[in-house]
Amino acid sequence: MESDPRRPRLVLLLSGRGSNALKILDAIDAGRVPMTLVGAIADRPAAGLDRLAERGIDTVEIPRAAFPDRAAFEQALDETLTGFAPDLVALAGFMRVLSDAFVERHAGTMLNIHPSLLPAYRGLDTHARALADGATEHGASVHWVTPELDGGPVIAQARVPIEPGDDVASLTARVLEQEHRLYPAVLALLGRAAVRTPDDESPNAPLVLDRDLDVDGRRTDADRGRAGARADR
Ligand code: GRF
Repeated sequence: MESDPRRPRLVLLLSGRGSNALKILDAIDAGRVPMTLVGAIADRPAAGLDRLAERGIDTVEIPRAAFPDRAAFEQALDETLTGFAPDLVALAGFMRVLSDAFVERHAGTMLNIHPSLLPAYRGLDTHARALADGATEHGASVHWVTPELDGGPVIAQARVPIEPGDDVASLTARVLEQEHRLYPAVLALLGRAAVRTPDDESPNAPLVLDRDLDVDGRRTDADRGRAGARADR
């Protein structure tokens, strides 16, 4: 993919099917997410990585099984990631828990999508657990990644009802449909120049709407007005 220097550089991490990753690429290609997908990495053979490669994305497989321990795997992952010089790293079905040190090195740049309404149902088997509890609502969350598993600040959520007669398959499908809307929507927001991403000192702080910029990164009328007033003086 051509890299536009004005656009945030995005890298995707995945482990399997990659339906979220492909929806993100669709949204970028359609001009709805103003980012450049500079690369994708999988920690095992992954159908999603193959689909991204077919669409011209620079993909790298770093199989965890090829490394003696997590530290060696994460070193290789870090080197590849750093080589892509990403502004944002989006975990999309990346099924590996990263060490605290790794997460801290990338604090404020790493996002994940999790199939529950966090803080409910961190971890695995979220749909089965929601059904077993008799919950009436379920959904998905996009959150910043922090060392606490599925515990980082939530950026946005999509909610779905749990219907009578739902099973894991029907609920998973209903949530996944919303995941496919939610992740591109969050990335679209993060890609806009009008929103500042967290800074180094408070990497997980809420996004801040920049009052001087409109959603396309142009000076707002209010700001032009102030500049005009200054010039008149
Ligand atoms: C999604 O449900 C995501 O929320 C979870 O893993 C699944 C990945 O699906 N973390 P896909 O690989 O994006 O199709």
